[in-house]
Amino acid sequence: MTDDYFLFSSVHRQKQVTHAFLFSGMNRLNLPSHENRKTMKQTVTIRKETLPDYQRVIELTEKAFETLEISEHNEGKLVEKLRKEPTFVDELSLVAELKGQVVGHILFTPMVIENGGHKFHTLILAPVSVLPEFQKQGIGGQLIHAGHQKAIELGFHSAILLGHPEYYPRFGYKPASTWGIKTQIPLPCDDVFMAVELTEGRLTGVSGMVVFPPEFG
Ligand SMILES: CC(C)(COP(=O)(O)OP(=O)(O)OC[C@H]1O[C@@H](n2cnc3c(N)ncnc32)[C@H](O)[C@@H]1OP(=O)(O)O)[C@@H](O)C(=O)NCCC(=O)NCCS
Repeated sequence: MTDDYFLFSSVHRQKQVTHAFLFSGMNRLNLPSHENRKTMKQTVTIRKETLPDYQRVIELTEKAFETLEISEHNEGKLVEKLRKEPTFVDELSLVAELKGQVVGHILFTPMVIENGGHKFHTLILAPVSVLPEFQKQGIGGQLIHAGHQKAIELGFHSAILLGHPEYYPRFGYKPASTWGIKTQIPLPCDDVFMAVELTEGRLTGVSGMVVFPPEFG
């Protein structure tokens, strides 16, 4: 794991504490007032990321995270790195396009949950980014739904993530501990480490440790 894997990697205790603060405080840090965030829902075109999008996606990722005080602002580099890894599935790197402009991006990467001799294949969702001026308009949600749909088409049945406990449950995510899925990364609280069954019941009987493959760093 590397230092620049913002959402998942955390080799230093200090950084873990930082992440703890991020997860618990992001809602407070990030969200505009209730009145200000009453904006129109936008319907976007979700499509596979292609080579000409690469630079734009890096830029929008950096902008999406730029106002997060606790972010190390290296999420763009993370995307760049993950694209080069053997685990990268280009069909699971999706962009949201609005009037010809790419305004959001999501990436799912295959991972393994290990339990003794058993290996369960899953996906990790990271990162998901929407340009600040287009946030709170339903675009992040459309990216997540589209990503789940594509993952199912490709034969994946679950996904995991580390993220906002207030946001992801609306997409079906529950604490990973529900299934006995663990991570070696120390967590600020149980509910930031989440999993979702993309096909009902497919995490039944699945438990173990999420293994971050060496190509992650
Ligand atoms: C998180 C993010 C991808 C969500 O995308 P979005 O297009 O703004 O989200 P949507 O419009 O689909 O959903 C809006 C809802 O999500 C909630 N929401 C958005 N960001 C949230 C956050 N950080 N914590 C909790 N809730 C959040 C909003 O309050 C809103 O709730 P409402 O529908 O009850 O009003 C986007 O805000 C973003 O890029 N943020 C910066 C990067 C980031 O934090 N990525 C995720 C790291 S775990």
